[in-house]
Amino acid sequence: MQVVETPFSVVAISGSLRDESHNTRILKAARSIAPYGMEIRVTDISDVPMYNDDIFKQGFPSSVDRLRWEIESADAVLIATPEYNSSIPGVLKNTLDWISRPPNQPFNEKPVAILGGSPGRLGTVRAQAHLREVLNGMSAYVLPKPEVFIGQVSDAVGEDSFRDERTAQFVTRLLESLRAWARSLQAVAVQST
Ligand SMILES: Cc1cc2nc3c(=O)[nH]c(=O)nc-3n(C[C@H](O)[C@H](O)[C@H](O)COP(=O)(O)O)c2cc1C
Repeated sequence: MQVVETPFSVVAISGSLRDESHNTRILKAARSIAPYGMEIRVTDISDVPMYNDDIFKQGFPSSVDRLRWEIESADAVLIATPEYNSSIPGVLKNTLDWISRPPNQPFNEKPVAILGGSPGRLGTVRAQAHLREVLNGMSAYVLPKPEVFIGQVSDAVGEDSFRDERTAQFVTRLLESLRAWARSLQAVAVQST
């Protein structure tokens, strides 16, 4: 019997702007092992200005408009965060702050999975706890498990592929769980309409 998967789109956000970012590489590697039927698009947050309510009052900057539309139109979001001083980098928080502004903030009830990597052993465990809290505050549906903390990240992840099979397996499980989570949330939403 042939299994037909309906297309499932994921927009992926890296919390690092640098060219050789491990976290951007994690997303590119995730894209390379995306399960059948899943498309992962790694987006760009480098053109998001610093949040300023005076700018917001004149309308969203085009970069924020684009990101909001990408999130709105995707089935789910995947965020890879670095850890900066035991939390998430300012560029990521700044981007989330922009996206969170009304009306129709696109993280509301959006299925989201998070992961991250660092050169140290803890693999962004503290940053991910903070990221989860921020996303909860935005009413996103953050996938509870599996949690993926990639320590000693350069051993585990290359430029756009996984070097370590176990890490690839964890990320595969994360992606499959994200799709199942999103599908079950969609089914609940249909039942309650
Ligand atoms: C300002 C700053 C603070 C950092 N704080 C932490 C930290 O608290 N914990 C940690 O594991 N790594 C910390 N690091 C190291 C980062 O994990 C490392 O630079 C990582 O490669 C950043 O992610 P990226 O490769 O995706 O850019 C910090 C790095 C910077 C620049």
